[in-house]
Amino acid sequence: METVHPNHTIMRRACITGTGAYAPERVLTNKDLEAMVDTTDEWITTRTGMKERRIARDDEASSDMGAEAARRAIAAAGITPEDIDLIIAPTITPDTPWPNTGCYIQQKIGAKNAWCVGIEAACSGFIYGIWMARNMIATGAADAVLVAACEKISSIVDWTDRATCVLFGDGAGAVIVQATDHPTRGIIGGHMGSDGSLSNLLIQPAGGSRMPTTEETLRNGMNYLKMAGRETYKHAVTRMTDSARKLLQSCGLTFDDVDWFIPHQANMRIITAVGQRMGVPVEKFIINIEKYANTSSATIGLALDEAVREGRIKSGDKILFVAFGGGLTWGSMLLEW
Ligand code: ACO
Repeated sequence: METVHPNHTIMRRACITGTGAYAPERVLTNKDLEAMVDTTDEWITTRTGMKERRIARDDEASSDMGAEAARRAIAAAGITPEDIDLIIAPTITPDTPWPNTGCYIQQKIGAKNAWCVGIEAACSGFIYGIWMARNMIATGAADAVLVAACEKISSIVDWTDRATCVLFGDGAGAVIVQATDHPTRGIIGGHMGSDGSLSNLLIQPAGGSRMPTTEETLRNGMNYLKMAGRETYKHAVTRMTDSARKLLQSCGLTFDDVDWFIPHQANMRIITAVGQRMGVPVEKFIINIEKYANTSSATIGLALDEAVREGRIKSGDKILFVAFGGGLTWGSMLLEW
């Protein structure tokens, strides 16, 4: 048994060995939205920090985006698709309710030795997925795991509802997680939580077994994403701050020990408020919300890949992911790069 820290004892250390991301070509700006709903660039910018978002083509499914991000992560890790023994695909916009989106990604990238699963943890899905990958690697149940978060949120947004349609975009972020012998590099610890009693705050009410799709659900807009924005906002700030604090405490570290924070990109004001509560300057947060808006489970992967490829994240840096989303779900994870 290798001891990383007294509270995070693992059998094998897991490490992100490659990152990849994909954003569709089509850009939808705040100005474009002004022509679609009763909104302004000024409202969206000041309330959210978003300037534009990407929208997938009609013939582009979540798995197409996930597969492209996966190909880039596989290349960055220097492995082949056949080396992957598990695919985890976090998404709330699966290609089909089932088979799971991981199976579609498997077929597209040719990862024929993998078993595949999807997870529906909304914006926390990427962190949940990597945490599950880490635990599979720690126990020896897997050697190379692909986590490919992919979202076509544009397919579940009501494009006549200004309160939600301006907030979301499409995209994918992927990582390869592998075992490492390195003494300090890799995933140090994680903290995850959920509160199912608040499931109605963020929900796609129809289309599942509780309320199958009918002409009436379509007419009433029940197949669209619904969000109680203001209440969600408060929970997001509290849960993200608490989760990160508990994680660092359990690792015997403080916010000052972290080089980069990569938060879920739901709202610039949420990120600022979280930073203030942590006492961390906003310069330590990696943010690209202005370009991609909220791509749910894909935001952290999109931001991570961008920062890695730009050379902002350096070997030895301590990085903290923190997210919050529908479920409610939340989580944080600490890594040494
Ligand atoms: N343009 C112009 N006005 C608008 C728009 C718009 N696009 N949307 C709403 N408004 C109006 C409202 O109608 C309201 O008008 P009123 O005062 O006349 O009634 C006013 O702006 C204020 O609306 P609020 O909803 O109170 O605005 P708020 O400042 O709370 O910002 C927002 C809304 C951006 C949604 C914010 O609440 C938020 O970010 N919430 C959290 C989102 C989040 O964290 N989601 C979690 C992850 S998502 C997932 O899991 C899939």
